[in-house]
Amino acid sequence: MGSRVTAPAVRARKVANGADPLVMVTAYDAPGARMVDEAGVDMILVGDSLAMVVLGYEDTLQVTVDDMVHHTAAVARTSPSALVVADLPWLSYHVSVEDTVRNAAALIRAGAGAVKLEGGTKRTKMVEALVDAEIPVMGHIGLTPQSIHAMGGFKVQGKELDAARGLVEDAKALVEAGVFAIVLEGVPDVVDRLITEADPVPTIGIGAGRHCDGQVLVFHDVLGLQDGIRPKFVRRYATLKADGIEAIAAFAADVRTGAFPSEEQTYHLPAATAAALGLSEEPDEVIGLYGGATMSG
Ligand code: KIV
Repeated sequence: MGSRVTAPAVRARKVANGADPLVMVTAYDAPGARMVDEAGVDMILVGDSLAMVVLGYEDTLQVTVDDMVHHTAAVARTSPSALVVADLPWLSYHVSVEDTVRNAAALIRAGAGAVKLEGGTKRTKMVEALVDAEIPVMGHIGLTPQSIHAMGGFKVQGKELDAARGLVEDAKALVEAGVFAIVLEGVPDVVDRLITEADPVPTIGIGAGRHCDGQVLVFHDVLGLQDGIRPKFVRRYATLKADGIEAIAAFAADVRTGAFPSEEQTYHLPAATAAALGLSEEPDEVIGLYGGATMSG
């Protein structure tokens, strides 16, 4: 394991100051976290996209703090070098400051090194309380999936002049409240550029163009593990769903023809024990039992 990425180290990563762009990818379990970390990303986001890509819900509003704790702990148990950022789910930071700090603390105790929450100016009170409790906070503005009903769907935000200015104000307010980075989702690239150039903390884009200080994508999108809707901002780097179906179909065919398991996947008794049981380890008899597979030994 290399040295751990920290929130202050991420905060210092402005491309305009010569830093390399930040890379963040989501993960929701131990094997996913190992893949993402071994690929050398800077941050693993245990996103509330968990709801849609893993748990089968239609939106992100269904996951609870307990769900997020469960999956954050699975990711953190792999001891990644990347900074683990966990999403505060909907309604876990809207009701009271006390609730917000307690819910964020549950994610930190599960192994996250920072939390992420959605919204700008109206969330600054909660951001300040979290920072005051020594919890690093990542902001998230633009297309904020937890606002799906308020936004009227998953739509690009900040296209009108007032809305674009509102996003610039939101980013400024989050910086003043103490966030160490801001995710910009689903905004025109000029808005991304305005915010990235104006603010001292790194911006991490998803569907926000190329001016951000980093980029984030969802694990299942990068790897082609889902083939439903493919948003314009996604670039697939593998076709794991298609590859997986092909592999499982090959397994099913091998089972049905008797080609699996073969000798390679079979345990044997010592010959004397088999003989005492009235059986022989003679391959032909095994072939007879399992319907004609080709075996040796
Ligand atoms: O939950 C998530 O995966 C996210 C990213 C899309 C930024 O918030």
